[in-house]
Amino acid sequence: MITQPSDPSTQHSTLSPQSSTLNPQHSTLNPQHSALSTQPSAPSPQSSTLSPQPSDLSPQSSVLRPHSLLITGGAGFIGSNFVHYWIKKYQEDRVVILDALTYAGNPANLEPVANHPQYRFVHGDIRDYDLVVNLLQEEKIDTIVHFAAESHVDRSIHGPDAFVDTNIIGTHTLLKAAKKVWLDRSSEKSESSLIAQSSVLSPPSSLCRFHHVSTDEVYGSLGLDDPAFSETTAYAPNSPYAASKAGSDYLVRSYFKTYGLPMTISNCSNNYGPYQFPEKLIPLLILNCLAGKSLPIYGDGLNIRDWLHVDDHCRGIDLVLKKGTVGQTYNIGGNCEKTNMEVVEAICRLMDELSPNKDSVPYSSLITYVKDRLGHDRRYAIDANLITSELGYAPAESFETGLRKTVEWYLANQDWCQNVMVGNYREWIEKNYED
Ligand code: NAD
Ligand code: DAU
Repeated sequence: MITQPSDPSTQHSTLSPQSSTLNPQHSTLNPQHSALSTQPSAPSPQSSTLSPQPSDLSPQSSVLRPHSLLITGGAGFIGSNFVHYWIKKYQEDRVVILDALTYAGNPANLEPVANHPQYRFVHGDIRDYDLVVNLLQEEKIDTIVHFAAESHVDRSIHGPDAFVDTNIIGTHTLLKAAKKVWLDRSSEKSESSLIAQSSVLSPPSSLCRFHHVSTDEVYGSLGLDDPAFSETTAYAPNSPYAASKAGSDYLVRSYFKTYGLPMTISNCSNNYGPYQFPEKLIPLLILNCLAGKSLPIYGDGLNIRDWLHVDDHCRGIDLVLKKGTVGQTYNIGGNCEKTNMEVVEAICRLMDELSPNKDSVPYSSLITYVKDRLGHDRRYAIDANLITSELGYAPAESFETGLRKTVEWYLANQDWCQNVMVGNYREWIEKNYED
């Protein structure tokens, strides 16, 4: 039986003054930091209680009650929805957000929760090893929920480098930092007294969790009659984005198998909902309707995605953190396959109802077929039987209810929309659609 960590508020109040402020310089990426890490040592006794034989690791059950979370990418779409979800549901938990505020990160996404007493935002890069180690120690982090990524397939086709840097190097930097703070601390004698002192207060590794948020795109593309992706489907990533996520998944797995780092992975289907950056299909279509611009559909519009409201994704991750098996991957999906044409038609119908065109011309008249995405995966579908049977997961929103709420959110948040449709966004639209 795993014991609960002590009250986090007590833990936080014991923080030394030195560790209570984070040097803002840390937010500047310093690639040298990752080279400073010491050679990995053998799994500590703590990790060996989790995993007696690293070479013989099998998934193990645990019930984890997170108390101090590091949420990477928390200013992005899913990350910010997860922060809202968590703060509302677990008011006493510490929620520390680490986000580099790339074009996709937006502090406005976090405004509704920014005054919560347990909230802290750190502007920094997941590739900054020293920053991450300091944060894990200073905040006594027991749970990392890793959303930070370059996430747009089309951008990965135009410029793959950032995807390798953030998704692979960045994930590896987080893993190294988690290993150092959670697993290596008792075996390293050469640490400074500050770090050693701080480490004493860190939670035991058996209560820690590295949860990696991944995607169904690692499994490649399905034919119309193929069975849906399960956790045992072989990886076959087709875009640089999908390949970089697959690489990060493998690294997370390897840190469990080799070192006993307590981790879980979730591979989820297409999300939609509030705060999604309008480079992605659903918000792009809503905002193009409002602007009277064409609704660009790649290829024949018959590519299929499995759509899931972002709140349901957050609930799935919550279940994995609370009840999931350490070392396990869980697929999360909406059981909601739609062709892109079905999606655009549904949005046009909702827009005709909720924000009719002033000339009463149906929005569907704006649908325009454009050149296809390179290597465009034909179909994704998720078999969510494992998370359903083991953890009792089921999506709460149907596509109809979720899409209606989403359209209503974009209509009610025009300021948010106008603020993100500037600079980088305009350049991107020009590059992707007007080439
Ligand atoms: P997003 O692009 O909206 O947000 C990404 C966030 O990560 C941004 O806030 C950005 O500033 C931050 N970030 C990027 N590079 C960083 C770095 N080096 N250091 C720190 N922060 C950095 O992405 P999203 O759609 O919210 O996706 C979140 C995660 O979920 C990703 O890992 C993605 O692969 C995965 N995922 C997304 C979907 C989806 O449909 N959107 C589905 C399945 C899985
Ligand atoms: O499946 C999970 C993935 O879903 C996540 O891992 C990614 O981070 C997320 O971006 C999303 O990837 P997709 O490529 O499926 O999403 P996107 O919204 O970019 O495109 C959805 C479908 O719509 C896809 O078949 C491409 C098509 N599309 C997209 C855009 C932006 C168009 O037809 N026109 C467009 O303008």
